[in-house]
This record gives sequence, C-alpha cells and structure tokens, in this order.
Amino acid sequence: MKSSVKFDREASAQEAGRQAEFIEKDKVLVRALTEKLGRRPTACTVTFGCQMNAKDSEKIAGILRDVGYELTDSEEADFVIYNTCTVRDNADQRVFGRLGRISHFKKKNPDMKIALCGCMMQEAQNVEKIRTSYRYVDLVFGTHNLFRFPEYLCGVLEGDGRIFEIWDSTDRIVEALPSERKYTYKSGVNIMFGCDNFCTYCIVPYVRGRERSREPKEILREVEALAADGVTEVMLLGQNVNSYGKDLSEPCSFARLIEEVAKVPGIRRVRFMTPHPKDFSDELIRTIRDYPNIARHVHLPLQSGNSGTLKRMNRHYTKEQYIALAQKIRREIPDVSITADIIVGFPGETKLEAMDTVDVVRTLCLDNAYTFIYSKRQGTPAASMPDPVSEEEKKETFDLVLSAVQECARERSQALTGRVFEGLVEEVNEQDEHYVTARLSNNMLVHVPGDPSMIGKYYPVRLIECRGFYFFGEIVSGSEENSATDQ
Ligand code: 5AD
Ligand code: SF4
Repeated sequence: MKSSVKFDREASAQEAGRQAEFIEKDKVLVRALTEKLGRRPTACTVTFGCQMNAKDSEKIAGILRDVGYELTDSEEADFVIYNTCTVRDNADQRVFGRLGRISHFKKKNPDMKIALCGCMMQEAQNVEKIRTSYRYVDLVFGTHNLFRFPEYLCGVLEGDGRIFEIWDSTDRIVEALPSERKYTYKSGVNIMFGCDNFCTYCIVPYVRGRERSREPKEILREVEALAADGVTEVMLLGQNVNSYGKDLSEPCSFARLIEEVAKVPGIRRVRFMTPHPKDFSDELIRTIRDYPNIARHVHLPLQSGNSGTLKRMNRHYTKEQYIALAQKIRREIPDVSITADIIVGFPGETKLEAMDTVDVVRTLCLDNAYTFIYSKRQGTPAASMPDPVSEEEKKETFDLVLSAVQECARERSQALTGRVFEGLVEEVNEQDEHYVTARLSNNMLVHVPGDPSMIGKYYPVRLIECRGFYFFGEIVSGSEENSATDQ
C-alpha cells in the first residue's frame, strides 16, 4: 500500500492537468472500444452509503461520461463501479452479495470491466478478500486517490491486468475534475474531507483520513458555477462541517462560509450535512436564523441520550448539553426541524441507560431520527469494549427507541397541518404518476398533484393530510412558480 507525500497547491494543479491528459487517452481508448463493440459502451455507477459517496459517484460518472461512455442504471453494463460504504456491517455484506451476482454478466460480456472504490476499500481485509476470492474485479482504489480515476481507467482499458491502488492517507484536494450531476436543480458540494473526531464506534476517521478543508474561494466558485447552470439548492457536505476551515492558512468558520454561500445569487436553499453538536456555535445559529434561504432543518446526530455512553463514545457532550443546544436552535430559528442519528446497543449500554435516549427523543420531540443498531467495526476502540448485552435485548431497546421516534415525528408533522410552505418539486411520485413530491425547507416531503414539468421549481404547498413524517398536500394559487409563503 502506498502512502502519500506532502503536496502543495501547485502540485495539486499539476495533478489535475495530469489527469486531464489521461482523460484524453481514455477518450481514444473508448472510441476504439466503441468500434470493436459496434455501439457506444455503457457504464453504471452504484453508490452505497452517505451523501459524500453520492458526490464522489457523480465525479466518477462525470469522468466516464466525458471519456465517451453512455451512463446507465443497469449493472449489465460494459463498466460497472461500486462505490462502497463501511460505516455498518450490512453495507459491506450487500456489496459482496451484488458482486457475486454481476459476475454472471461478465461471463456473457468478456469486455466488461468491474471496479470497486470507496470506504470499504480502505480496509485491508476487504481488499485481500477481493484480490483472492473475486478475481474478476479489474480495478480497486480507495477514498484518497479517487482523483486518479482517469489514470486507472486508462490502465484498465489498455488491459494492464488487475489494478489495486490504495493509499493510507492524503493531504491533497484536487479541484476541477468533471462531474455528472444526478439532479439538474440541486447538488452536493464538498466543503471538507475526512474527520478528526474519532467517535469510538466509527470507522470513518480511519477510511476517510484527517480533516482537510477546501478553500472558501474554490467552494464559492463551484457554487456560482452551479447557480449559473440552474442549480438552486446546494448541500454543503463534510463529516463534521462545523470544524470547517480550522486547517486553512487563513481560517474561516463554517458560519462565515455558509453565509457567503447563501449570498450567491440564484441559490434559494442551502443545506448542510453533518454538524457535530459539540461544535455548533451561536454564530452558526444566528446565521441560519438571519438567512431565510438557509434550510430550516438541522440534522444533529445524538447517538445516545445517556451521558455515560456519550463519554464512552467520545462525543464530548452530555445529555443535558444536547437538549440545551436543540432547545436553543428551536428557540432562535422558528419552524426549524431537528433530526438526529441514534445508535442503539453501543457496547455495555444497558436497557436502562438507553431509556435516556428515549427521554431525549421525547423531551425534544425530535422531528425524525435515523436509528441504527450498533455494528462492530474492526480497528475502532469500541470493538474491544466489553459488550455483555444480548442481541435480543438490543433489538427490544431498538424497537422502543424507534416507536418514540415515530410518535414524535408524527406529532411534530401533524402540528403543521393546514399551513403553507415553499416546496421544491423533486420528482414524480413513484406510486402515482399524477403526483409529484416536493421537499420543504424543513426537509419534509409533501406529495401534491402535478406533472414532470414541475420538477426543479418552487411552489407554495398547503399541507393537508399527515401520514407520519410526510404529507399529502396541494399547490396553492394554481401551478405558478412563486415563493409567497411562510418560509
Ligand atoms: N454502528 C452503528 N451505527 C453507526 N454509525 C456510525 N458508525 C456506526 C456503527 N459502528 C451511524 C452514526 C452516524 C451515522 C452516519 O451512522 O449514527 O451518525
Ligand atoms: Fe464518525 Fe464521529 Fe466523525 Fe461522524 S463525527 S464521521 S460519527 S467519527
């Protein structure tokens, strides 16, 4: 495995130039493949995991499209790449299951190439398993060297044999690679990479490396270009966005950055994912309050409501501090929704202790939460903590937490019945093509009668019928795009 060396900005610019040269070579190779096949070759990217991975997949898809592949959702393609996640064990298992299935496609199509990248590839045991037991995989790379994909693709297309390249770390950020946006009207924007928090259950700091922030001017340049291209909603992405900018030569707080992004003409909504409660500043709360185009939604991972467990998780806040912070956010920002991530079954957490989690959910009446059962990740400190609580008991506790979450979500949603909010229409409803789905600033989904021409536009939406954490509703004042609403 290769380790990285120090790179300065000039070296990064040179690297982008180098990869641009590989893109040109890839184009020639894809043209040759097109002639051989008698058709344009197809490529499919499959994403597991979080928004960061989704964003990385857009970069990969952008390169594939640029060099001449036709993008498809079918895994029966000429180039298939799985962008993997390893945050919980079930994500790992799903990748191996799917890899087994697509091996049949490769038997039918000898020109097919299969690649794997992402967080799972930063773990040596997974790479070894692929090297020895999944011999039909052509290319494996990790999270730190994604920007070298054009170069690896060139090797694969030239038939250089299997390419495995994983770096232990990098301090490099390569700007200006092509990217294929999944949506025309919204986009994720990386503001930083990596995480320095080392929560004891979490594999992310080991597979995504140390925190590295992008320069504010690079971020703003990207947002401006997106706005010029018709994007109205951006989501600023990082593992711990409120430590943004601490590592820059000219430090810049996350609050300052989000304010600058909110000022970009044409940007009607700014979201961010994910903040850490320990660093959530008053300055950030004020900024969200003062800029109506910053979404009325704060995703504030709780993980546990028990202060002892939080300490063993290395979260740096107590139950009381979390509650006080969430209350302050609710007080300062009217109509804000607060959602959380929760882990049930952290090593050693008793059922009684987990009732503190239920207590926090109920005390705050959280708007929603993703609830996970603890998954042991090799190499993390929690993996070697004593874990006497049985899986059965963890499952019972999980169900209790989940019902509290669902009850609160319903209660918070129901209270909004009858009100009108601005909704951005995102897609045609999967169940009924006469409906479209709009997302409100507070992240709630509302299904309204409509048609595909409405996608990407904003409408005032009245919330009529609450179905748990989503609504059925209607567009107010005909089908005109406008924004004369509550928020
Ligand atoms: N087990 C269960 N859930 C986890 N998460 C992170 N690591 C683990 C783990 N080992 C959850 C956390 C985090 C979300 C992205 O995934 O709740 O906020
Ligand atoms: Fe993992 Fe904690 Fe970093 Fe989030 S803040 S990525 S949970 S270590």
